[in-house]
Amino acid sequence: MITLNGDYKKLRGNFLFTEIAKRTNDFIAAHPDADVIKIGIGDVVRPLVPAVINALHKAVDDMGTYEGFHGYGPELGYSFLKDKILLKDYKERGIDIAYDELFVSCGTKCDTSAIQELFSKDTVIAVTDPVYPVYVATNVMAGRSGAFDDVLQGYNGIVYLPCTEDNNFIPELPKQKVDAIYLCYPNNPTGLALKRDELKVWVDYARKTGAIILYDNAYEVFITEDDVPHSIYEIDGAKEVAIEFRSFSKIAGFTGTRLSYSVVPKELKRIDENGDMVSLNAMWTQRQTMKYNGAPYIIQRGAEAIYTDEGRAQVMSEIGYYMENARIMREGLREAGFTVYGGVDAPYIWLKAPGGDSWAFFDRLLNEYHVVGAPGVGFGPSGEGFFRLSAFNSRENTLKAIDRIRKGIK
Ligand code: MLT
Repeated sequence: MITLNGDYKKLRGNFLFTEIAKRTNDFIAAHPDADVIKIGIGDVVRPLVPAVINALHKAVDDMGTYEGFHGYGPELGYSFLKDKILLKDYKERGIDIAYDELFVSCGTKCDTSAIQELFSKDTVIAVTDPVYPVYVATNVMAGRSGAFDDVLQGYNGIVYLPCTEDNNFIPELPKQKVDAIYLCYPNNPTGLALKRDELKVWVDYARKTGAIILYDNAYEVFITEDDVPHSIYEIDGAKEVAIEFRSFSKIAGFTGTRLSYSVVPKELKRIDENGDMVSLNAMWTQRQTMKYNGAPYIIQRGAEAIYTDEGRAQVMSEIGYYMENARIMREGLREAGFTVYGGVDAPYIWLKAPGGDSWAFFDRLLNEYHVVGAPGVGFGPSGEGFFRLSAFNSRENTLKAIDRIRKGIK
């Protein structure tokens, strides 16, 4: 008889946002008249910009003609989009990425989940703590951890790098040997960024030890400070040690439309079990072409539109809208006496949860004030005592939510 993958049993509960949605839906079912404001998951609410909509319409029309119809596309992305990414996101920032180092696909959640398939089972994984839960869960499912430890509130075998008030939420280098390190900057969930010299510490560490950095750069477009890098490849030597992931979800409002890309430089090579030097670019090419048939033509045409002057101006205006929400939350909560971090280079606010129990604060906020946030402990053991709010909502709802929290909770 077939034996199932027992590593799934190690997973502790649901995906954080599934659990939040469940508690929220239960509450709404019991209180159908409540005006519930959801600023838990970082999901955009504003419509796609006109330049994207026009491009999508045109691409739909293409698909209705013999000349414009597209069946299976190139698995790694159409050149009309890849050329623009290479120029606008890299070359114009002084970074040379080759055409076949860039992989277009359908979401950074999928890409950051899949990348661990390239590593052997005994790879030691390090994550900043708190962290986007997908990095940990997908390695647990792949058998790279022991059981969940109820005391530590984390998985044995995964190396957690605490980001706390004591270290200004900047992770310290691991004290033990690690092989792959997930870094997400600007950071989800703390909403804080690493400066160029702080990121260089990690690139230098990886060059010295042979570790690989998995750099989730989904929030790049929210950077406002000059000394925050827009790509890890701004740091010398990063191409030997880092894979970068980027998403159209937040910049272009594509959370429901789905599109992303990853960069795997050809310089990035490590040994296999025979001691042979292998290119991760070649492996990722194999993986993506074997398991994936490419992102839809229509969606890639929509994404292409954000690289025009008109499209860029429109999406930046949307980013400005959300970052004004972040400012309102940050300043409003501070004035009310809360300790608040983030919200300058990222659309997330990380606040200290009154009472210290982040799920209890979640329940209180939902039940008494009808506001949905994300409990810090859902992002890892060092998240306990904190709470994440997202700037992705309307101005009206943001103002209302902050007003309720300010009035109600001290
Ligand atoms: C978040 O809220 O952390 C993200 O939006 C979730 C995701 O990107 O999957």
